[in-house]
Amino acid sequence: MVGCRLVFAWLRPLAAASAFMISAWALSAQDEDRQMDRFISSLMKKMTLEEKVGQLVQIPANFTTGPEVKTGDYRKAIANGYVGSMLNVEGVAETRKYQELAMQSRLQIPLLFGKDVIHGYRTGFPVPLGEAASFDLEAIERAARCAARESAASGIHWTFAPMVDVGWDARWGRVMEGAGEDPYYGAAVARARVRGFQGDDLADTLTILSCIKHFAAYGAPIAGKEYNSVDMSMGQFANFYMLPYKAGIEAGAATVMSAFNDFCSVPSTVNRQLLRDILKDDWGFEGFVVSDYYSLGEVINHRCAADTREAALKGIEAGLDMEMSSPCYSGHLADLVREGLVSEKLVDDAVRRILEQKYRLGLFEDPFRYCSEAREKAIVSSAQSHADALYVSERSMVLLKNAGDILPLSDDVKTVALVGGLSKSAHDMCAKWSCADESRAVTLYDAMRKRGVEVLYSDGYNLDTDEITGLEKTIEDVRRADVAVVAIGERGEYSGEMRSRGDIAIAAEQQELVEAIARTGTPTVVLLMCGRPVIFNEAREAAGAVLCTWWLGSEAGNAICNVLWGDYNPSGKLPMTFPLHHGQIPIYYQYKSTGRPASNGWWHARYMDIPNEPAYPFGYGLSYTQFSYSSPEVLPGDGGDVHARVRVEVSNTGDRAGEEVVQLYVRDEVASVTRPVKELKGFRKIALAPGESLEVVFDITDAQLGFYTESLDYVVEPGDFTFMVGTDSEHFESVAFTLEERTGKKKSKN
Ligand code: GLC
Repeated sequence: MVGCRLVFAWLRPLAAASAFMISAWALSAQDEDRQMDRFISSLMKKMTLEEKVGQLVQIPANFTTGPEVKTGDYRKAIANGYVGSMLNVEGVAETRKYQELAMQSRLQIPLLFGKDVIHGYRTGFPVPLGEAASFDLEAIERAARCAARESAASGIHWTFAPMVDVGWDARWGRVMEGAGEDPYYGAAVARARVRGFQGDDLADTLTILSCIKHFAAYGAPIAGKEYNSVDMSMGQFANFYMLPYKAGIEAGAATVMSAFNDFCSVPSTVNRQLLRDILKDDWGFEGFVVSDYYSLGEVINHRCAADTREAALKGIEAGLDMEMSSPCYSGHLADLVREGLVSEKLVDDAVRRILEQKYRLGLFEDPFRYCSEAREKAIVSSAQSHADALYVSERSMVLLKNAGDILPLSDDVKTVALVGGLSKSAHDMCAKWSCADESRAVTLYDAMRKRGVEVLYSDGYNLDTDEITGLEKTIEDVRRADVAVVAIGERGEYSGEMRSRGDIAIAAEQQELVEAIARTGTPTVVLLMCGRPVIFNEAREAAGAVLCTWWLGSEAGNAICNVLWGDYNPSGKLPMTFPLHHGQIPIYYQYKSTGRPASNGWWHARYMDIPNEPAYPFGYGLSYTQFSYSSPEVLPGDGGDVHARVRVEVSNTGDRAGEEVVQLYVRDEVASVTRPVKELKGFRKIALAPGESLEVVFDITDAQLGFYTESLDYVVEPGDFTFMVGTDSEHFESVAFTLEERTGKKKSKN
């Protein structure tokens, strides 16, 4: 007993000290907020109405990422304090120049520099959909951290990322920028990317503001057509599109970007239900909302405002804080306030939200704290950045086929026929929304020639026309080689904004070339380079192995070679379903049963002329080793929030170390509304040595069992559920579970 008393005696002061430390931390955080409030309130008292409106204005410099805009003499406006932010200014020298201009203004309020740092800055990373295929949240966070370091060192304060729009339709080119078709996984990726960009302290000069975009549901345009209308019930929005936005806000994202599309018949940019009711009131968002490029001005095109004056009024009332590129606020907001049509309180709220972020970045202390040439030189394109890019790129690739274990290439391979100009194209490797220094990108061609094998290279087809070229020489090379590696795909610019395509098949000529090469009998590996799911049935049928490389950025060549030769065992999984046929699109795994559940029988949810099944399902990806799963079992919960646990044992039954993404899907067997046949509700990426086994346990809480109602209440209903644990959304084992008691309604708290 004495020992026990001594222990308690010793613990008491420690407990007191830690309590003091926690309360001191909380106090200091409160103190800091109070100090910030005092500073901003005092500054705002000095601001004229025009200077306040100026803070709500963002103008593009250098180049536009949308329709050309007439910005007038913006240098004079900056020097007068009538501009709060600029986009597409980069580099220490240039940001310093504009900041010096801003310091000429009466109150010397610093400018905020924003840019689309979407997948890396000068060191390019995989396109976001490719990165999402890693199902490796640490790798994803590491990529965002590197992008933040490099862009912050280049004078940039804010990235218009992460794009978190859920996408079910591969015709929409911007699926490239997101995390795919699943809201649960999209939410996890949103959190990781916000953490990566913002770190723990925005005052750190190597962290930047993040931006959750595009709010809301921009990924669901009707017919996959860019900028098209989005129309869905609030229940559909809440259960299939909302989570990633909400997760990003909960992770502390500093800004949100409104979407181009109308949402339930109101343009998102002036949609009060989205921007004020849900985002600011329900979710308590304290950062600021920026429009998309000219999207406030485009409310006129939506035919929801007669002119820029009415657009300005609708924007400020709906909760839009900053206007990107269009002239509505700068042209009319001060007058609207003076005429009593807009309360100055609304303007003040927007101004405060923006000034708070500038304060948090430390820009009032030192407007030039991000302008260090020495830091820029040391950090941008550093060896560390390239190591980060290689690490993430290796983990992003998805092995789709490997007949006869063609891969990994063995040491017996002395001669490789490398076919396809994409293997030489740094520009394509870096893809759309690239900020990369392409001169430093390592292409597959460059990297392969350093592998100590003889590389017989041929273009195979014209990159612009897809026309097959030099077939005779290609076939001659292939016959001489131990293996053929054929790079096919869509061009790097073919996915991204304004890249909706009705035809997402890989060019017939490219596929015919693969078939001709395979007919020689030489083992044929297809590398699929793309920014979205594509249809390539003939090529994947003919090839012995298929590796989806996406567009990997600056370290693409080294990463692909490391996977081809097995230095890294591919571990990626598809974050989006790959269609078998255009007629299936949009195709996604979390479809609903319907009254006549999908099957090949008559009178069932199916097509007459094409199958229901995709080419490759959500969550699919092979490895160079094999994994086995024990049957899942349900264990008791903790009597509190954990209703149950699902346990499975995963073993590496092959002869090579590898990583597996263990996936948990849940089906609510009977509910008050129709629910999907399955939904991803947990995943764990684990590494296993040959012969090693690991127990994986998933906690089952409300988050795994509930759903949102039309009024955005989150409810969990008692009854039967099925848990499915496996290697993808079609290969799993099931176990039943019954939730006994109703856990009651919780307003949007899951
Ligand atoms: C573009 C995009 C948006 C981007 C913005 C600024 O039109 O929709 O994602 O951040 O304009 O470039």
